[in-house]
Amino acid sequence: MQVLFKILRQKPNSAPQFQSYPLEVQPGNTILECLNRIKWEQDGGLAFRKNCRNTICGSCSMRINGRSALACKQNVAQELEMLPQSHQQDLPTITITPLGNLPVIKDLVVDMSRFWDNLEKVDPYVSTQGRKIPEKEFLQTPQERSRLDQTGNCIMCGACYSECNAITVNPEFVGPHALAKAQRMVADSRDTEIETRLDHYSQGTQGVWGCTRCYFCNAVCPMEVAPMDQISRLKQQILDRKDAQSSRAIRHRKVLIDLVKQGGWIDERKFGVFVVGNYFRDLQGLLSIAPLGLRMIASGKFPLSFEASQGTAVVRSLIESVQHDE
Ligand code: SF4
Ligand code: SF4
Ligand code: FES
Repeated sequence: MQVLFKILRQKPNSAPQFQSYPLEVQPGNTILECLNRIKWEQDGGLAFRKNCRNTICGSCSMRINGRSALACKQNVAQELEMLPQSHQQDLPTITITPLGNLPVIKDLVVDMSRFWDNLEKVDPYVSTQGRKIPEKEFLQTPQERSRLDQTGNCIMCGACYSECNAITVNPEFVGPHALAKAQRMVADSRDTEIETRLDHYSQGTQGVWGCTRCYFCNAVCPMEVAPMDQISRLKQQILDRKDAQSSRAIRHRKVLIDLVKQGGWIDERKFGVFVVGNYFRDLQGLLSIAPLGLRMIASGKFPLSFEASQGTAVVRSLIESVQHDE
């Protein structure tokens, strides 16, 4: 079958532009095989990364039809099937662009320095500093080792980083790949720095509280690492250890749950005052939300009273049963 490959080409200091390459392919051909043929048969100047050709090295990550994926994992038939009807043209077309959130070096090759630098920020090495140097290696039971299986599957391909909304708006945020690795460290029975790590991962919006929970990292990860689930695990461990005074981000979660348990839904009159105003302790915080409160009152949007939900008892028991299961 004939397929048109529309590839975004870019050189340093020049504007990107699409170039089209028609190619005779089999439905089972991988996108990487197609790119190889385009390079070998039509345009030797096309630049992209590859290595293992087998979903192991993570090199060939790129955006295929607008979604970050591994070129050696996706095949032509899968990609054409996923195209919405409105995008299906006479000549089936597959669009390929570089990963997002990273500067382009050339064509589909991006500069991953920031990705690696951010990984380094979570200290991704097992620490055994509190123990004496053993004569043998630190052993783990099969159960302890199995806790590392999912996060250990990460091949550092960058697909999650490319789709991360938080990275796009907040350059401080370390990213889903780094926090999935952070959870891998915390889950490791040999690591002796768990408390220090959780403190570190809880700082500002650089760590877990920077995630906007958009789910995109889970959706694109080719290895089912589910980075957002790993971030949720880190958050849960932080919330289990810290009280509402520790930080505004922690207070935000705790106040939200307390208010929903009390009234079935959030009493908005209290939410801002408790979270930002720290239960009337933080005068500066209270003053910062005063203009918003006044605007809401002026426009009749400030709720003057609160009526608990009729289903409060059910909501409360649901929350408590989830909390007991944890
Ligand atoms: S978590 Fe998944 S998407 Fe992110 S770098 Fe690892 S393998 Fe790639
Ligand atoms: S869920 Fe969080 S970490 Fe994952 S892509 Fe969205 S913002 Fe980024
Ligand atoms: S070439 Fe290694 S993962 Fe695709």
